[in-house]
Amino acid sequence: MGLERSLRLFDAFAIGLGAIVGAGIFVVIGVAASLAGPALLLSLLVASIVSAFTAISFVHLARFIPREGGGYEFAHELVSPFGGFISGWMWLLSSIVTGSAVSLGFAGYLAAYIPLPINLMAALACLAITAINYLGIRESATTNNVLVVFKLIVLLFFVVFGLSLINGSHYSPFAPNGAMGVMEGAAVIFFAFSGFGRVAMISEEVRNPTRTVPLAIILALVVSGIIYALVAIVAIGIFGAGSLGTSSSPLAGAAALEGDVMANLVAIGALAATLSVLLTTLLGVSRITFAMARNHDMPSVLSKLHPKRNTPFIAIIFFGLLMTAFALTTDILKAVAISNFGSLVYYLIANLAAAKIASTRRAKVFPILGIVSCAGLLAFLTAEAWIFGIGALAIFTVYYYFHSKMKRDNIMIPGSKE
Ligand code: ALA
Repeated sequence: MGLERSLRLFDAFAIGLGAIVGAGIFVVIGVAASLAGPALLLSLLVASIVSAFTAISFVHLARFIPREGGGYEFAHELVSPFGGFISGWMWLLSSIVTGSAVSLGFAGYLAAYIPLPINLMAALACLAITAINYLGIRESATTNNVLVVFKLIVLLFFVVFGLSLINGSHYSPFAPNGAMGVMEGAAVIFFAFSGFGRVAMISEEVRNPTRTVPLAIILALVVSGIIYALVAIVAIGIFGAGSLGTSSSPLAGAAALEGDVMANLVAIGALAATLSVLLTTLLGVSRITFAMARNHDMPSVLSKLHPKRNTPFIAIIFFGLLMTAFALTTDILKAVAISNFGSLVYYLIANLAAAKIASTRRAKVFPILGIVSCAGLLAFLTAEAWIFGIGALAIFTVYYYFHSKMKRDNIMIPGSKE
């Protein structure tokens, strides 16, 4: 019994959008606005260009290796087993932290309605999402489809009703902190785009994956880019970058200027959006773990599938609980910076893999632009994210050394199995 190939193009596209549109646009937009001012629009452009270069690499890679595990499998096959190991672990680190950041974003919006501690509500959200993932890929995809359609409708309403309230003076001064502010804003708001490669992670659960996965990646990135640009233009135009920067629920704050009904609608949209990101994050985490365990880069028990539900249920429960524990202890801004470090390293390695399958000089242009742009954006992350990220890289490297030594020794013992 293997994974179930049940997802169609709409499901795959919705999983992409489910993974992309969440705490980034509903919460982190405020921090980016405080760094860049109205030039947040340029920060979004920079982040979308970096994402687009890497997405092009993912499109080629997903056609070449339509296997569960996405970027980890690409790096394992095309760069080296070590490259795959580091890519997989950096993605896992980034995703667990993303999950906790997003659940805190969820709790931040829910706090207006339910007076419970933020970290507790975030932890409960993680547990609920773990249960849905456990139930199965169809149940997860259906829940995600509903959440995605709802969050898109809400953002569309926000834009349409906000357009007439735009005040042109809110766009100036356009870049109060200059180019540095724009780039620091881009390094933060990059969080809003991460997740565009998620669908490659579940290639073995998608029908006709060599066509569907690349198409879903492109569609999800283009649609989310357009939505982000429109939302940012309206949010800055009606609320001002300064006000966005001081609110913990910035879009609801902006929507309040369109009336109470819109403020509530946006808050509910934020809940749906953050839940869908949480859901697809755990989906990706469990599938990359499945792929790594299948290649003996993790304990093989983590690749065990549920006999009835066909889900890697042990991986789901283990990482769902780990995300819950992080949600009880993390602060959202630190989590976003660390998550961006992990995902940029993961994307950089995926671009290296794409450069390997590019047979002509022309075909190598996009992977090289991907590598350079990911490295460039990494340079603008906070010192704290760098310290944490380099520390994690060092730990994973040492772990790899002992792990592969153990594997070699095991192989050398006569009669032993790998
Ligand atoms: N892109 C995802 C979000 O914005 C991580 O929530």
